[in-house]
Amino acid sequence: MNPHRKLLILTMIFLLVFFSTIGCKKQENNIGEPNENKKPEQNAKIPPPNEMILSAEAWKDQYPLIYESLQMTSRFKDGVTEDPELGGSHPISYLEKYPDIKILYDGIGFGKEYYAARGHFYSLTDVINTARPKPGASCLACKTADYEKLLLEYKDEFYAMDFHKVSQEIENGITCYTCHRNEPGKQIQTTTPQFNAASSKLEKDLKPGTLACAQCHVEYYMEPTTKEVILPWDQGLEIAEIEKYYDDLDYYDWKHPRTGTPLIKVQHPEFETYTGSIHDKMGVTCADCHMPTVEENGEKYKSHWAKSPLKNVNESCGTCHSAEIDGLTAKVQSIQKEIDDQLLEIGAMLVTLVEEFGHVLENNKLDDPAMNELWDLHRKAQYRWDFVFVENSTGFHHTEKARNALKEAKDYAQQALDKLKEYQ
Ligand code: HEC
Ligand code: HEC
Ligand code: HEC
Ligand code: HEC
Repeated sequence: MNPHRKLLILTMIFLLVFFSTIGCKKQENNIGEPNENKKPEQNAKIPPPNEMILSAEAWKDQYPLIYESLQMTSRFKDGVTEDPELGGSHPISYLEKYPDIKILYDGIGFGKEYYAARGHFYSLTDVINTARPKPGASCLACKTADYEKLLLEYKDEFYAMDFHKVSQEIENGITCYTCHRNEPGKQIQTTTPQFNAASSKLEKDLKPGTLACAQCHVEYYMEPTTKEVILPWDQGLEIAEIEKYYDDLDYYDWKHPRTGTPLIKVQHPEFETYTGSIHDKMGVTCADCHMPTVEENGEKYKSHWAKSPLKNVNESCGTCHSAEIDGLTAKVQSIQKEIDDQLLEIGAMLVTLVEEFGHVLENNKLDDPAMNELWDLHRKAQYRWDFVFVENSTGFHHTEKARNALKEAKDYAQQALDKLKEYQ
C-alpha cells in the first residue's frame, strides 16, 4: 500500500473513532434537543396502539408555530408567484402538460390520471381521490400516520386488503407521528416499515433532516403476490443498481400493450437522486432546503411547511449562498429548463419507438433474440427517462445524475430505433 494511502486511512480511522465518541457524549448529554451528530432512534420502541398520538392537533398547544407551519402544507396559493411551467405545487395534470405519457404509460394507471404532487396536508385525501386503480391497502404506506397502527392490527394481511375499506378507518394524513412517533422535539423516528426494513442496506447513517424524508420520497415496488411495499436497495441506490435489482428478479410493473415490453414504473426517487450530489457530499439535508429555520416575532423554529425552496430562497439557500442569492432562482430554473427540454425530446423519441415497434410487430414475426433485444432496449431507455421525469426537482437535486441518465436513455432509444429500421 502506498504510504499516502496508509496515512489517509489511519487519519480516517482516527477521525471516525474521535467523532463517534463525541457523538456518544452528545447523545447522553443532550437528549431532547435535535442534534445532527446523534444517531437517530430508528429502533425506538413502537408505542402500543392505544397510546399512539396520531393526530397533529395533540401537539398544537405545546408547539403552536410548528403545528401551524405543518398546516401550511395545505396552501398552494400563497401570494408568491410560481413559475407554472416548472416544478411548483400547482395541482397540474401531467397528462395535459406532457401528452406523450398517454402513450408511454399506456396500460398502467398513470396513463389515465397523473397529477403533480401537492403538500403533505393532502396526502390522504389525494390518494383516496385518485381514479387510478389500487392494488391494495399498501397504497396507504406513505400517506397516513395510522400506518404503523394498521400493520400491528392486521399484520402481513394488511397489504392486500381492500384499499377503500381500510381507508374509511383512517383519519390522519402525515402528522407529527410520521417522523417523531410520540416524541416530537427528540430525534427523528422513522415509522414506514418498508424504509425501516431497507435502511440497514444503506452505506451510511443518514442525518435526521434526510432520514425523515427518505422514508417516503423514494422508489418502491409492491411484491406481486403479497402486495408488500419494498424498497429495491439490495444492490445500491444508483439508477443502474436499482435496475439490476429489478432485472435479477425479472420484475416488471406492466407490459406495454402495444409492444409487450416488460416495463418498470418509477415512483418518486428524490432520495436516491439526491444521494451523491454536491449537497449530499457537503452534508446539506433535505430539511435544510425544504424546512429551513425561520423566525416569527423573535422566535426561531424549524418550519414544517415542506415546500418548494424557491418560495423562500433567502431562508432555504441564503444561509450558505448569501453572496449569490440574487441569481440563484434563475440558476435553478435554467437547470430545470435544460432537463425539461431533454425530457420532452427523449419522451418524443420513446413515443416514436413505441409506435414503430408496434407497426413492426403487426407486420413481422420477430425471432426471440430480436424481440428480446428490442424489449431490453425499450425497457432500459424508458426506465432512465422515467427516473428523471418523475423525480420532483426536474434535475436540480443532482444535475449530473439526471443528465447522464437522460443521455443513456437517448442512446438506448436510438439503438432500438436503428434496430427497428431493419424491418421497415
Ligand atoms: C440544496 C437544496 C435541496 C436539497 C438538499 C433537497 N432539495 Fe428538494 N428541491 C430543491 C429545489 C430547488 C427544488 C425545485 C423546486 C421547484 O421546482 O419549485 C426541489 C424540489 C423538491 C420536491 C418537489 C417540490 C415541489 O414543490 O415541486 C420535492 C418533493 C423534494 N425536492 C424533496 C426533497 C427530498 C426528499 C430531499 C432529500 C432527499 C431533497 N428534496 C433535498 C432543493 C433541495
Ligand atoms: C415529514 C417529517 C416531519 C413531520 C411530519 C414533523 N416533523 Fe418535526 N421535525 C422533522 C425534522 C426533519 C426535524 C429536524 C430534525 C433535526 O434536524 O434534528 C424536525 C424537528 C422538530 C422539532 C425540533 C426542532 C426545532 O428547532 O424546532 C420539533 C419540536 C418538532 N419537529 C415537532 C414537530 C411537531 C409538533 C410536529 C407535528 C405538528 C412535527 N414535528 C411533524 C420532521 C418532521
Ligand atoms: C409518510 C411519507 C412522507 C414523508 C415522511 C415525507 N413526505 Fe413529502 N410527500 C409525501 C406525499 C405522499 C406527498 C404528496 C402529497 C399529495 O400530493 O397529496 C409529499 C409531498 C411533498 C412535497 C410537495 C411536493 C409538491 O409538489 O408540492 C414536498 C416539498 C415534500 N413532500 C418534501 C418532504 C420533505 C422535505 C420531507 C422530509 C422532511 C418529506 N417530504 C417527508 C410523503 C411523505
Ligand atoms: C447548508 C448549506 C447549503 C444550503 C442550505 C444550500 N446549499 Fe447549495 N451548496 C452548498 C455547498 C457547500 C455547495 C458546494 C460548494 C459550492 O459550489 O459553492 C453548494 C453548491 C450549490 C450549487 C452548485 C452545484 C454544482 O454542481 O456546482 C448550486 C446551484 C446550489 N448549491 C444551489 C442551492 C440552492 C438553490 C439552495 C436552496 C434551495 C441551496 N443550494 C442550499 C451549500 C448549501
